[in-house]
Order: sequence, then C-alpha cells, then structure tokens
Amino acid sequence: MQTIIVTGGAGYIGSHTIIELLTGTNFNVVSVDNFSNSTSRSYQRIKDITGRSFETLELDLCNKEELNVKLSKFRDIIGIIHFAAFKSVPESVVDPLLYYNNNLTSLTNILDIAKQQKIKNFIFSSSCSVYGNADELPVTENTPLKTAESPYGHTKQIGEDIINFVCKANPEFNAVLLRYFNPVGAHPSGKIGEFPLNRPNNLVPIITQTAVGKNSLTVFGDDFDTRDASCVRDYIHVTDIADAHVKALNYLIENKNKKNSSVFNLGTGNGVSVLEAIKSFEKVSGKKLNYTIGGRRDGDVIAIYANNNLAKTELNWIPKFSLDDMMQSAWKWQQTLESEN
Ligand code: NAD
Ligand code: WQD
Repeated sequence: MQTIIVTGGAGYIGSHTIIELLTGTNFNVVSVDNFSNSTSRSYQRIKDITGRSFETLELDLCNKEELNVKLSKFRDIIGIIHFAAFKSVPESVVDPLLYYNNNLTSLTNILDIAKQQKIKNFIFSSSCSVYGNADELPVTENTPLKTAESPYGHTKQIGEDIINFVCKANPEFNAVLLRYFNPVGAHPSGKIGEFPLNRPNNLVPIITQTAVGKNSLTVFGDDFDTRDASCVRDYIHVTDIADAHVKALNYLIENKNKKNSSVFNLGTGNGVSVLEAIKSFEKVSGKKLNYTIGGRRDGDVIAIYANNNLAKTELNWIPKFSLDDMMQSAWKWQQTLESEN
C-alpha cells in the first residue's frame, strides 16, 4: 500500500483530512505531530469515526535528525500533506521569531525529506491571509499579494515562495498550494472538531463557547462599509476543506496538474458578515447569543471572499456544506465537549 504522510494530523484540519483519507482512499496514512497545539485524543476520535487505524509519529518537524530517522523507515511514500504550523495571528505579532522558526524550519525540513526520498507530490496549507487587504473582490489566485498583515501571514507567503522555487529547481516535484479562507465547523458526526488548547481567537469557537457560557462574544466593529456594517469573510466547512485535499492528492498522483506548482483558493465564494454568522448560529442552535458590539480589531481586513472557480474546474471540488451546516456541526461538537466534561 502506498503511504501518505500527514504532518499536523492531530490538529483541526489535519484530523478531518485523515478521516477523508481513511474513508475515501486506500492509502496507508502516517500522521506526524508534536502535539504543540493538539492532543493524542484526536487520534482516538478519528479511529472511532472511521473504524480504521493508522500510524502516528510524535515528533517535532523542526528536529531534522529525528525526522530523517523516523521517516526513512517508510519506503513507499507517494505524497505529503503538510499542515503542521503555528496559526495564531495575534501570537505571531507578539513573537514573530517563534512563527518564522517553527513554520519555515518545519517546511524546509519536510521538503528536504521529499527531496531525499524522491517523494513527488506535496500539498501545502496556505491561507487567504497571503492576500492581505486585496483591492478587488472576490480574490482569484492571480490577485496580487499585498504586504502581509502579520508575521503568520508572512510565513505563508514565504512558504509559497520556497515551494515555488523548489518546484522550479526540481521539475519532477509537484506541489499544490491550497489557500484556505475561513475553515469552520466540525465533522457532521459531532465526534471531532476544533479543539483550541488556549483561548480561541476565531469567531466560530468563540460563538459556541459563548453559547455554553464559557466565553463572551464581542463583534469587532459595526462601522464598516459592508451590507450590515460588520466584517465579511468566506467561511468554509472543514470537511469541504478536507475533501479538497483528497482531490488535490489524486490530481497530483494522476498527473492531471498542468504546472508543477499550482495554487487554489478554497472558499465557498460567498461573503458572510459577522452578524449573519451569528444569526445562522442562533437559528440552528435555538440559542440567543448575548454579544456586545466593540471596536475594530487591529489588522482585520474589512471584507474578503474567494473566487473558487479554479478549484472547481481543475480539482473537481464543489463545497457541499452551507453556512447553517457549518454552525450546526460546530454546535454539535461543542455539545460533545460539554458532555465529556
Ligand atoms: P492546528 O493548530 O489545529 O493544527 C496544526 C497541527 O500541527 C497541531 O496539531 C500542532 O500540534 C502541529 N504542529 C505545529 N508545529 C509542529 C511541529 N513543529 N512539528 C510537529 N507538529 C507540529 O491548525 P489547523 O487549523 O489544523 O491548521 C492547519 C494548517 O492550515 C496550518 O498550516 C494553518 O496555518 C493552516 N491554515 C489554517 C486556517 C484556520 O483558520 N484553521 C486557515 C488557513 C490556513
Ligand atoms: C472572523 C471575523 C473578525 C472574533 C484568521 C486568520 C486567517 C485564517 C483564518 C489562518 C472577523 C470577527 C472574530 C471575535 C469578531 N487563518 N470576530 N469577534 O481574522 O478572518 O482570519 O483565521 O490562516 O489567516 O487571520 O478569522 O475567525 O478571527 O474572524 O467579531 O471575537 O469575525 O473581526 O471579521 P479571520 P476570525
């Protein structure tokens, strides 16, 4: 059986992707994670949902020697999906070097393994944060990238550049760079979802925690030039994101890629305001959210959403989940967490 290495497989998007790999393909999956922002509990949840087992390696991708030793025992690796990175925008502003070090060292180390072991297929977690404050909406993959708003976003821009240069130098090496918009929601089973180890910064976990009295929601700004004066984002269900990885992997393995480095936006294409997201949550949960309106958050772009035509036509990827599905599944997951406490 051919092996897929998933780095960051115990994390939010990695764990949902492993579920899609185990249920939709015959690959042998190996997850590499150091649990810096996750726990091994995700692995048990994946096994419970899929009924399938997979190998796991606890190691820091920044430790090149250990990475080389542990991955050299796999001789049949056909692809790498590289999720592992730190992802908190505010934390990256406070400690930029932590982000440059972890996100870029882990990337260059895993690319080096790919080179040594002649692994041809590579998928990278990029982000809509590479666009910064785009001039035109929706953004396409060709929209010029602006200066990053944070060191985190900068690590994604540099990561893309590194991969593009590696592809240029090695015509045999193929990469897909996936620019996720705002991944939210949880597996429809409600048995796995986002599990912030620290206080979350993102809207949806803050909404669900507020609904159970564990957090308080402030809407950051209601004076923007948008349809209801709150910020607009492109929320996309995490299972749709996971599905795109399986499609991207098959696209590379079946040599359907036209270039050896391809970039795709992963969003629904719909801009949704903060107040609309809150309304959707209130509708599906039947819970009224007690929120306050606060000032703007530093560094927030006013509005961003994707043109996703390229992923639709090239990868044959169609996002299936609605905003209500996203909120419903996030709520189901929050209730699972409550029942475990
Ligand atoms: P996450 O923090 O839940 O998962 C990342 C995983 O990588 C964690 O389990 C963490 O323990 C692991 N990890 C981090 N550094 C590591 C290292 N040096 N060695 C081994 N393991 C390490 O994050 P996520 O939301 O699943 O994001 C996955 C990827 O997608 C990240 O690259 C992130 O930047 C990117 N991304 C996320 C979002 C989002 O909103 N969640 C949006 C755009 C892009
Ligand atoms: C969404 C909207 C806030 C919290 C970040 C990263 C981006 C990508 C996705 C990784 C915004 C508003 C939020 C709150 C609020 N991640 N909000 N009150 O900032 O769009 O994107 O995550 O790559 O790079 O920057 O996501 O969920 O933090 O915010 O009003 O308590 O919700 O202003 O409009 P964001 P978010």
